[in-house]
Amino acid sequence: MKVKVSRRAHFNSAHRLYRPDWSFEKNDEIFGKCNNPNFHGHNYELIVSVFGEIDQETGFVIDVKILKDLIKSEIENAFDHKNLNIEVPEFKNLNPTAENIAVVIWNKLRPHIDSDKDLEVTLYETPRNFVSFSG
Ligand code: NI
Repeated sequence: MKVKVSRRAHFNSAHRLYRPDWSFEKNDEIFGKCNNPNFHGHNYELIVSVFGEIDQETGFVIDVKILKDLIKSEIENAFDHKNLNIEVPEFKNLNPTAENIAVVIWNKLRPHIDSDKDLEVTLYETPRNFVSFSG
């Protein structure tokens, strides 16, 4: 019997969306307000889901305490109250769009989740705009 277990988390981060190889005008056209050279912040909401068989001994798919601690150590400590462009190495040469942030989060968590379980990351950049990645 396969069940999906999810944990919701939160972090605040600043970012700027731009490509250094484009002119300011082109960046402005594509990224709009997100190209503000002085950066801007988002209240990101993160939902991490693990899908797999229920362990017959524990009754868990994954211990949510372990999932909670993993999100804290791998994601919140790395991203919360940080400037993603400047302070998070993964975005040194990668635009910190919601899409790319979701993929980076998935890649950071995947090695810590049993390989027989599926992992899905959903990231809300605003209450209405969200992306999902499951590998
Ligand atoms: Ni933005």
